[in-house]
Parts: sequence; C-alpha cells; structure tokens
Amino acid sequence: MYRKILITGGAGFIGSNFVHYLIQNQPQVQQIMVLDKLTYAGNRANLADLPSNKVHLIVGDVCDKSLVERLVSKVDAVVHYAAETHNDNSLRNPDPFIQTNIVGTYTLIQACCKYKIRYHHISTDEVYGDLPLRKNLPHHGEGPKEKFTTKSCYNPSSPYSASKASSDLLVRAWVRSFGLQATISNCSNNYGPYQHIEKFIPRQITNILCGLRPKLYGNGQNVRDWIHTQDHSRAVWTILNRGQIGATYLIGANGEKSNLEVLQLILKLMHQPQNAFDWVKDRPGHDLRYAIDATKLQQELGWRPQFTNFASGLQQTIDWYSSHQAWWRAEKKAVESAYQKNGQ
Ligand code: NAD
Ligand code: DAU
Repeated sequence: MYRKILITGGAGFIGSNFVHYLIQNQPQVQQIMVLDKLTYAGNRANLADLPSNKVHLIVGDVCDKSLVERLVSKVDAVVHYAAETHNDNSLRNPDPFIQTNIVGTYTLIQACCKYKIRYHHISTDEVYGDLPLRKNLPHHGEGPKEKFTTKSCYNPSSPYSASKASSDLLVRAWVRSFGLQATISNCSNNYGPYQHIEKFIPRQITNILCGLRPKLYGNGQNVRDWIHTQDHSRAVWTILNRGQIGATYLIGANGEKSNLEVLQLILKLMHQPQNAFDWVKDRPGHDLRYAIDATKLQQELGWRPQFTNFASGLQQTIDWYSSHQAWWRAEKKAVESAYQKNGQ
C-alpha cells in the first residue's frame, strides 16, 4: 500500500482531480507531493482547501533532474500526469510538447530506476491514431479491431499524440531493459471540474455563460469517447495498486458521442436553441473517432465506471463552471482571441 506519492501535473485538470480523489477516498495515503510547473494549464486554486499537512505543491519542472531525483527519493510511488496536453497548441508550437512530454518522462523514469520506485504512466488513447466512424464498419463499432485495445498499433496523428506515444515507448523500454516497476494507462477524453477552458466542453459552456456562440470544428461528426474524470482517478488508483508490472491498461467508459451530439446536449441543458452555434475551421489532421475497449481493466482488475449517465455528468459540469466563474473568467478573453486568430 502506497503512503507517500509524487503526483506530477497535480495542479492541472486530471491530476488535481486525482489528488482530490486520494484525499476523499484513500485515508491511508499520508503525503502527496505535487510537482507542477504551473504553466498556463496549472492552477494553485485546484488544490485549495485540501489539508496542508498532507498535500504539498512543489513548483518546478519535470525535466529538472536534480529536483526530480530529490523528490522521487522521498516517495513510495510516482504517478506522472504532467504534460503539455492540447492538440491545437501542439500544431501551433510543438517545442514544449517535445520537451515536457518526452524529456520529462525520461527524467522521471531515470530517477525511478535509480531509487527503485513504483511508477505509473498516464497516457492517452490518441497514441493509437483514429478509427473509422461506426456506420462505416462491418460490425458498427462492436467488432474486432473496431475499438482500441492494448494490441492496437501505435499511429499518432498530432505533435501532442506523437510526443505521448514516444513517452509510452520510453516507459516500455525502461521496463524491459532496466526493470522499471511501471504500469501504463491510456485513457479516453475526460470531462468534469477544473478542466481548462481551451478544451471542447468547458469552452462551449463558458462561451454560453459569456454570451458568445459555441464553436464546432469541421462537420461536427468526429467522435470522442467521454469518461468522467472521477472514474479515471479510480481506475488509476486500481492499476497503481493491483496492475501487473509492465502492463498497459486502456481506460474508457463506453461514452462515444459525436461533437455535434455533445454540443447539442450542452445547448439543451443550458436552455439555448439547438442551432445557436458557429461552424468553424477544422483542426488539421483532426482524428475522426476514438473508442476504447476496456475489457482487460474490467476483467483483470474489476474496475467499472460509476458515471454512466453522460447527461447528468455534463449537467454537474455545467453547474460547476456556472458556480466557479472566478476560476475561469480572467482567462476567457485571451483564450478566445487566440482561437479567433486561428479562425476557430
Ligand atoms: P492539463 O493541461 O490540464 O494539466 C497539465 C499539468 O501539467 C498542468 O498543471 C501543468 O502546469 C503541468 N505541467 C506542464 N508542463 C510541466 C512541466 N514541464 N513540469 C511540471 N509540470 C508541468 O492536462 P490534463 O488534461 O489534466 O492531462 C493530464 C495527463 O492526462 C496528461 O498526461 C494527458 O496526456 C493525459 N490524458 C488527458 C486526457 C484528457 O482528456 N484531458 C485523456 C487521457 C490522458
Ligand atoms: O482522447 C484523449 C485526449 O482528449 C487527451 O489526450 C488530450 O489531452 C485532450 O485534450 C483530449 O484531446 P481532444 O483533441 O480530443 O480534445 P479537445 O477538447 O481539444 O477537442 C475535443 C473534440 O472537439 C475534438 O474533436 C475537436 C473538437 N473541438 C474542440 C474545440 C476546442 C471543437 O469542435 N470545437 C472546439 O472549440
């Protein structure tokens, strides 16, 4: 049982939800060290109100070898969330993606090998590229190879997903060649509180709250496989404690929806007309469909999602952004003007 854990990127969206999950559900965890650079995506406020005797934020870079070694040497386990995460940003400037996602992972796994520390690597379904739409598949999305499995080939499309794929491959090589005690998880699209307003769901909710029209890329038919971030946290904790060393687990909650469907649900829940949005320029290289087959995680480790009603998870998320306007208002104008410059 792990009692002292280093969580990189723990001031970001999914990392901070994992810290909240541990505080609320795993009282045996005594010390949580969060290593976070506080980039534009990191926010101290995400960790406010957590017990200061348990949660310690260290502002620093996962590429800083001496800092990383000092922190890793003090813990029982590392969960590595820190990354540059937004595809659109990676298309504008890939540099920080290469540095943080690849060199940062290298720095951490070297330190974990040196001190023989358990390591869990957080990754994404995007490493597998994309899938055809269900309607164009022989078994309409339910047949063999019609969802991603741990046997799917790596085929990333964007600088972001290529950098995450590179980091996964480093971890696999370190397990095999240096005995790194690691597991990897590749999760689908998360939604929930504390997600940066550059991302699809919070961007549309906050647009409506500001009186701006939501923006849909391309023809809106691209499919994402949505999972509530709390279900992701429970899956990561399960894998950290009971996963097989060297194994990869795919995390998903059967939440496939087209972007148009998600947007129209947001519009409905926020009492807007169904056509009150703008079609905007598509993302270059835009992945068509993601879909996770989580059978291995379910059968081997018994994990099941708890948020199975997307509309009610989305309503809670809308309520969170509505009641936490101080959390996002100051950044809204700059985020939207960066999109506008790009025709999005
Ligand atoms: P996020 O952008 O909200 O947060 C990333 C955090 O990492 C921020 O707090 C940022 O300050 C920190 N960070 C960035 N560079 C750093 C560096 N060099 N050193 C230290 N900290 C640094 O991201 P997120 O959406 O919470 O994603 C977290 C992880 O989960 C990433 O590894 C991402 O690839 C993965 N993931 C995300 C999703 C999703 O839907 N968002 C799905 C699957 C996997
Ligand atoms: O699949 C997991 C991945 O999900 C994570 O690895 C990434 O870190 C995370 O950002 C997310 O990537 P996506 O590119 O799928 O997420 P994003 O929120 O940027 O976009 C979701 C979909 O919505 C995508 O098809 C693009 C579209 N979109 C996005 C924005 C911001 C729009 O139509 N309009 C928008 O304004």
